[in-house]
Amino acid sequence: MKLVIGGSTGYVSTELIRQGLPNPAITSIVALGRREVQAPAESGAFAAKLRSVVVDDFENYSDSVKKELEDADACIWTIAVTPMNLQTLPFEETVKISRDYATVAIRTLDSLHTKQGAPLRFLYMSGHFAPRSIDEVPEQLKTHGMIKYGLVRGEAETLILGYGEQSNGAVQACVVKPGLIDSPSRPKREIPGLPHIELTDIAAALLSQVVHGFEKDTLSNDDMVRIGQKALAEQKA
Ligand SMILES: NC(=O)c1ccc[n+]([C@@H]2O[C@H](COP(=O)([O-])OP(=O)(O)OC[C@H]3O[C@@H](n4cnc5c(N)ncnc54)[C@H](OP(=O)(O)O)[C@@H]3O)[C@@H](O)[C@H]2O)c1
Repeated sequence: MKLVIGGSTGYVSTELIRQGLPNPAITSIVALGRREVQAPAESGAFAAKLRSVVVDDFENYSDSVKKELEDADACIWTIAVTPMNLQTLPFEETVKISRDYATVAIRTLDSLHTKQGAPLRFLYMSGHFAPRSIDEVPEQLKTHGMIKYGLVRGEAETLILGYGEQSNGAVQACVVKPGLIDSPSRPKREIPGLPHIELTDIAAALLSQVVHGFEKDTLSNDDMVRIGQKALAEQKA
């Protein structure tokens, strides 16, 4: 499987690359980012599976970037403005980065996918509280002044799933809605109503889903804990 990871340098994508490189089902990883990324030192010979591709414009891919994306089997899209960085950018930039970059990616990968009989799998990372309509806005977003942001993430979910539905089976789309992603490298945070998942578990769950197929179109935090822990236990066995 040729796997594209959108956002090569982030917290989750770094773990996806670490776990993905030794995975025998994954033959290559194309990591898209605005900066170069290196394989972790522990990857050894598997480092050769990683192709770091620097993208200057995520709304208009250059021909050389498109060449790297040809016939990808799956993509895990992690690029977004996270709540922590929300105040650092104008809102229009947040919309572009969190919604439009993902829709351009699914459309571009689909147009470059020529494998017959094997759909492209596209997984969009969203968040637990992201509502798909104004009626679903949870109290937590209202309290923290994040209604508009949440709705943009929810709109991205709808657009990505809609793209899959309208593709006549050419693209399988999935949205994941994690809570707080914990790891030993980060101080543990608590936000009322937000569940937790370990970084190792979520990365294992996402990789398992793109390799074996999506269990359903929207995966909750609990789904990913279950899928990720099962995948890691199977790897140990
Ligand atoms: N971490 C959590 O606890 C958590 C919880 C729930 C949901 N999520 C969701 O999971 C996804 C991944 O989260 P994360 O924690 O891994 O985020 P992260 O560490 O902030 O990584 C985000 C990635 O997006 C890239 N990016 C951001 N702005 C960009 C831009 N303007 N152009 C190109 N690339 C850009 C970053 O590149 P640079 O390194 O160059 O900035 C990085 O590779 C996000 O959708 C997030 O909302 C995360």
